[in-house]
Amino acid sequence: MAPLRIGLIGTGYMGKCHALAWNAVASVFGDVERPHLAVIAETSQALANEKARELGFERATGDWLSVVNDPAVDVVSITTPNAFHPDMAIAALDAGKHVWCEKPMATTLADAERMLHAARAARKVAALGYNYIQNPMIRLIRKLIDDGRIGDVNHVRVEMDEDFMADPEALFYWKSEASSGHGALDDFGVHPLSLIWVLLGGVTRVCAHMSRPYADRPLAGGGRRRVETHDIATALIELESGASGVIALNRSAWGRKGRLFVQVFGAKGMIVFDQERMNEVQLYTAESGETQGFRTILASPQHPPYDRFIPAPGHGLGFNDLKVIECRELIGRIRGESALLIDFEDGIRIERIVDAMARSAHEGRWIEVE
Ligand SMILES: NC(=O)c1ccc[n+]([C@@H]2O[C@H](COP(=O)([O-])OP(=O)(O)OC[C@H]3O[C@@H](n4cnc5c(N)ncnc54)[C@H](O)[C@@H]3O)[C@@H](O)[C@H]2O)c1
Repeated sequence: MAPLRIGLIGTGYMGKCHALAWNAVASVFGDVERPHLAVIAETSQALANEKARELGFERATGDWLSVVNDPAVDVVSITTPNAFHPDMAIAALDAGKHVWCEKPMATTLADAERMLHAARAARKVAALGYNYIQNPMIRLIRKLIDDGRIGDVNHVRVEMDEDFMADPEALFYWKSEASSGHGALDDFGVHPLSLIWVLLGGVTRVCAHMSRPYADRPLAGGGRRRVETHDIATALIELESGASGVIALNRSAWGRKGRLFVQVFGAKGMIVFDQERMNEVQLYTAESGETQGFRTILASPQHPPYDRFIPAPGHGLGFNDLKVIECRELIGRIRGESALLIDFEDGIRIERIVDAMARSAHEGRWIEVE
């Protein structure tokens, strides 16, 4: 297959992460053509020029539309704030490009449905940035569950906590605007839902609550602005399998840096994972006797594709490596191989759950997921 030609829109936190992945994927995996890093778009030509130089892209533009319409681009990475995802993804798909769009898919279910229709019409790969599912340790957890190591799963609890919005005096920015979505419910909630989807399957009904710890935040130019999103959310869920679950989300949780804490409870044991310790899994299998207890399994070359990064066990992968794996899965899907990826078809399931959770929080009752 000819090298894929890449366009990248947005070069902030996730833009750099995508750029690193496109730069690294051929070297790490050794079984794909080195992508051609064609063009970067930012909000100004000057910023785009600077980032193209830093991140190794050939060209730069201050106009994202020129990237999606560029005949010399095959795949568009979309790493802009949430509100831009629908217009950018739809334009790219309409122009015949594959799309790798950051989560959440969109800020409304209607927009996500439009994105899905565009992907179906384009018959291109349309993938979402659900990097946490790519952790070799999450793949191990899925195998442990599938192999029956903890028996039938009856309950799952996922907590996602970070403290980047914990300071009440932190500046107002796009994540506090209603145009970015509901707040923790979708900004964070989609990650636990992506893990629940790949580990345990679909969700049938939800009962959610959202809260706003701070009424307003300071503006960069002086004065204060009312916070329009909810930085804390909680949901009870029921799964298609019959298992119950809890999702707890907090973007203003002092002390928590990247906590994505997963507990899967089964009839014969349980599994614990925390993204802050992303290179280990705790497994408890019910056994009698004086040595019963949790066992710590460290990431090692036995847990693919860890071996592609490092030959030594226990040395550990990092957050950015998850995007490299996701990038390899995306290339695999484009090549027609089976791939572990949440595409727009699966992503819409997550968006429907988010939409049901938001309605539940507003109406104060259980809501069935469509
Ligand atoms: N998968 C993950 O783990 C993860 C983590 C963080 C963020 N995200 C998602 O990634 C997306 C971006 O978040 P971020 O934290 O990188 O934001 P960010 O603010 O760091 O970066 C956004 C970038 O987009 C650029 N941009 C904005 N409008 C643009 C336009 N019209 N044309 C070109 N560039 C434009 C900005 O200048 C900025 O460089 C969000 O959707 C967010 O939810 C995903």
